[in-house]
Amino acid sequence: MHMCKASLILSLIASSAQGYETFKSKCAALSTNGISGSEKTNINFAQFLPAQSVIDLAAEGVNQTCLGSDDAPPLPTNICRVSLSVSTSDTSGVIIEAWLPENWSGRFLSVGNGGFGGCILYADLAYGVSYGFATVGTNNGHNGTSGGAFYNQPEVLEDFVWRALYTGVVVGKKVTKQFYGKEHTKSYYLGCSLGGLQGWGAVQSYPELFDGVVAGAPAIGFDAMFSWIAFLYKTLGFDNSNEAFLSPGHWALVHKTVMSQCDSLDGLEDGILEDSRQCHPDLSALLCPAGATASSDCLTAPQVHALKKVYSPYTVNGTFINSGTNHGAAPGFSDAIYRPVVQTWVLDFFRYIVFSDPSWDLTQYKDEDAITGMRASPPGLHSKNGNLSAFRNRGGKVLHWHGQLDQVVVIENSDRYYDHVSQTMNASPAELDEFYRYFRISGTLHCRAGGPGAHVIGQTWGLNSTDEPEDNILLRMVEWVEHGKGPDFVRGTKFVDNDRKKGVAFTRDHCKHPAVNMHKDGKWQCITDAHL
Ligand SMILES: *[C@@H]1O[C@H](CO)[C@@H](O)[C@H](O)[C@H]1NC(C)=O
Ligand SMILES: *[C@@H]1O[C@H](CO)[C@@H](O)[C@H](O)[C@H]1NC(C)=O
Ligand SMILES: *[C@@H]1O[C@H](CO)[C@@H](O)[C@H](O)[C@H]1NC(C)=O
Ligand SMILES: *[C@@H]1O[C@H](CO)[C@@H](O)[C@H](O)[C@H]1NC(C)=O
Ligand SMILES: *[C@@H]1O[C@H](CO)[C@@H](O)[C@H](O)[C@H]1NC(C)=O
Ligand SMILES: *[C@@H]1O[C@H](CO)[C@@H](O)[C@H](O)[C@H]1NC(C)=O
Repeated sequence: MHMCKASLILSLIASSAQGYETFKSKCAALSTNGISGSEKTNINFAQFLPAQSVIDLAAEGVNQTCLGSDDAPPLPTNICRVSLSVSTSDTSGVIIEAWLPENWSGRFLSVGNGGFGGCILYADLAYGVSYGFATVGTNNGHNGTSGGAFYNQPEVLEDFVWRALYTGVVVGKKVTKQFYGKEHTKSYYLGCSLGGLQGWGAVQSYPELFDGVVAGAPAIGFDAMFSWIAFLYKTLGFDNSNEAFLSPGHWALVHKTVMSQCDSLDGLEDGILEDSRQCHPDLSALLCPAGATASSDCLTAPQVHALKKVYSPYTVNGTFINSGTNHGAAPGFSDAIYRPVVQTWVLDFFRYIVFSDPSWDLTQYKDEDAITGMRASPPGLHSKNGNLSAFRNRGGKVLHWHGQLDQVVVIENSDRYYDHVSQTMNASPAELDEFYRYFRISGTLHCRAGGPGAHVIGQTWGLNSTDEPEDNILLRMVEWVEHGKGPDFVRGTKFVDNDRKKGVAFTRDHCKHPAVNMHKDGKWQCITDAHL
């Protein structure tokens, strides 16, 4: 009896050690054998990396501007890491990484990019393999965070707009099949910001790529967004030399006023607005008394005037450009728009996509440039096609989420897109629910930037709570695609001091649009037409 058990255990250990050796040598064999049937594909390397390996991206020569928040954590599991270069035209190409976990679930996942990013999001790759997905990401056709690579390089821009992601998925699926010796079962996508736009681009134009798409804070209307930020710079200025400029103290004051007028609208004063659309604060309450000079306790008339523009839709000659910023987002908003990287994006957009003029400067911005900008941008940067029939008809599912405190990509852009799809497809929310569900996540900043609300929804590495699908938007998507159970809520978690180790401060079920959260009879409830 004892003998028997011991030898069983021994043989289990032996077979798993054997499996491990096979996995390692299969990985090494990829470099020698190449990818069959892909002559434009070159394998840079294929390396076995055991769990806990740390990848030194700087030593590998990854562009410096890509390093930092998206670095890979110590690997959660054993993988075969494959780097490929694929040419996409005579003058362009993409770098693709495919991470193939030893403990493969049979699923395929593509992650997206961010900003003007020519950066592989390594943290997202690690997140994917931690759940057993064969996971791919690309450098989106260039290297580094700026859009300088688009200057007089239409093919590089083409990669950025759609082709890099597309190529990564097509090649990534081939690599996956060759490596494991069988097709993946289901194909998924996870992305936020530009990555959200990329997800929508695939749903609209390449519906065959994915069975399930998680699109976070999509930068729908990417082109118009930069004009709006340029307009904000013009309106507010950069410092006190502009009479309308608001200091961080002024923004804090604005926030206090907004919250004092709006926090109770959802039934509970907790510092979180469950529906920022219901908030219509009277900003004139901020105005300094006549004769008083500007101070930290009040705002001057030019400041209040500018603030109204910040909160109002931006239109030029009757053409809609972008929604105004969200109520409640004030503290993160000024911090975000003045970040050097955001200023660089605005410059890059006009310099390298719109005017092909590297000397173009923010002081030159005129309202009509917003119209020129939209006309000059490739259609893929709008992503406003509302006809999703092809994706629906193939059985695809899309989970769209957006933080209500998003400081840069205004949530109303998502609201409008949802309505646009509903109108184009002549489908009610109940009919859209079959394949498209949208969640407005309260108290949540852009993508992974945190926020006072229950913002941890499983959107990427480190922002997962439990591995229950209720708590994890990626696993929710798997459940929907594979078991037909679409989510009616997405549960968010707020950790104490945003530190998992300190435990859970609170959780909140974020409602499926168009229902909104109301605190009634002592508990949160998803209510449709709550305010009618
Ligand atoms: C392999 O993945 C499955 C889920 O796909 C998980 O349940 C299991 O614990 C994993 N095994 C190892 C050894 O990591
Ligand atoms: C990005 O880097 C790779 C590898 O160094 C290089 O082959 C490629 O040309 C670069 N892409 C651009 C657009 O500069
Ligand atoms: C690194 O990225 C920056 C910003 O995008 C870019 O200006 C620079 O050319 C890149 N360096 C290389 C070697 O590609
Ligand atoms: C608005 O339209 C008028 C008449 O077509 C035109 O003259 C003017 O330049 C336009 N202004 C802007 C900001 O586009
Ligand atoms: C929507 O797209 C499908 C093909 O994907 C097409 O057959 C249909 O005519 C389109 N519907 C509208 C309203 O454009
Ligand atoms: C997800 O959360 C669980 C804790 O429930 C943790 O063990 C796991 O490492 C997390 N995964 C990632 C990728 O953060």
